[in-house]
Amino acid sequence: MEYTRLGSTGLHVSQLSLGTWRFGRETGGVVETDREEAHELLDAAWEQGINFIDTADRYGNPHGTAEQFIGEWLADYDREDFVIASKVYFPFNGRDPDRGPGPNDSGLGRKHIRAQIEGTLDRLGTDYLDIYYLHRWEDDTPIEETLATLHDLVREGKVHYLGASTMAAWKLTKALWTSDVEGYEPISVTQPLFHAGYRDDIKEYLDVCIDQDLAVCPYSPLAGGFLTGKYERVDEDDPTAFEGPEGSRGDIYDSFEDYYLSERGWHVLDEIRAIADELDATPAQVALRWLIEQDRFTCVPIVGARTVDQLAENAGAVDISLTDDQFDRVVDARYAEDGQRWGHRQ
Ligand SMILES: NC(=O)c1ccc[n+]([C@@H]2O[C@H](COP(=O)([O-])OP(=O)(O)OC[C@H]3O[C@@H](n4cnc5c(N)ncnc54)[C@H](OP(=O)(O)O)[C@@H]3O)[C@@H](O)[C@H]2O)c1
Repeated sequence: MEYTRLGSTGLHVSQLSLGTWRFGRETGGVVETDREEAHELLDAAWEQGINFIDTADRYGNPHGTAEQFIGEWLADYDREDFVIASKVYFPFNGRDPDRGPGPNDSGLGRKHIRAQIEGTLDRLGTDYLDIYYLHRWEDDTPIEETLATLHDLVREGKVHYLGASTMAAWKLTKALWTSDVEGYEPISVTQPLFHAGYRDDIKEYLDVCIDQDLAVCPYSPLAGGFLTGKYERVDEDDPTAFEGPEGSRGDIYDSFEDYYLSERGWHVLDEIRAIADELDATPAQVALRWLIEQDRFTCVPIVGARTVDQLAENAGAVDISLTDDQFDRVVDARYAEDGQRWGHRQ
């Protein structure tokens, strides 16, 4: 595993990050990744050389369970070996699951952020976070209040770097501009939805990241598993009609096809499958490698493997490389329907 400097920060991270969204999450009364499975995945990630763990206060049921699983595991390791990111914004029921979130248990106001950072650090069993993300943008709280609070957390040593997840490009720009004007710690790491099959709404966001030298840590880099090639199309006229393995995300999540399946997605997957054959690799590895090899910005995909075998396959992405032609064929497949272009290798 190679280690990459994360954009303009002084942090060095593995080429892949481990996502923990499914740790402690319940669907249909079934825990998707329980404590033991979570700890096996964390062990396997560490053995693969992955030092970058992505979580959020919101993950798990009740919220906070994912951070708790990680903290219990981390107690047997040296905290300094890991780069740990968490997030704040969404309603949090972890204070009292029976009562649910109160009026100040969500958003980006000072009270909520202050409460959440203490809870997050406590559950993770650490004195500091490497990266603290705004999970989303909040319209009700002035961005000055949010950034002033985060700036103080950095000064207090509770947070090292600031991040932003999904938000409009102009809002990300507004946050950067506000930090600049007010002298606050800037956002230096981003976490958008970005995978080979997805390009809507992301071009302008990535243009901001390129211009401002922000690191990009894409979430759902395999389109929730779609780009592994384990789903088959069953209707030529309907891109949302598919078959997939029992128990897979496509099988258990009602909204899977609306999120991840599109004409463009199938087209990109065809190209990724062809490149995988040429490289004797798997589609998942090619899809991840295409992200790692972005050459205009630092790109560290957050893999959401559910099993140790999936993680091992995905980690194989660091051992292959794409030719310029293979890289650009994925770009061309993204734009096949309208002939536009963005992101050919430079
Ligand atoms: N900032 C945000 O708003 C946000 C949103 C979403 C996620 N995230 C972060 O990003 C992480 C990754 O997101 P994601 O889980 O959507 O990522 P993903 O990599 O696109 O999808 C992961 C899922 O695909 C399937 N899969 C993965 N590798 C596979 C393989 N080799 N073979 C077959 N199936 C495979 C597994 O589901 P099945 O086996 O169940 O099919 C797995 O849970 C999350 O854990 C979280 O940390 C952040």
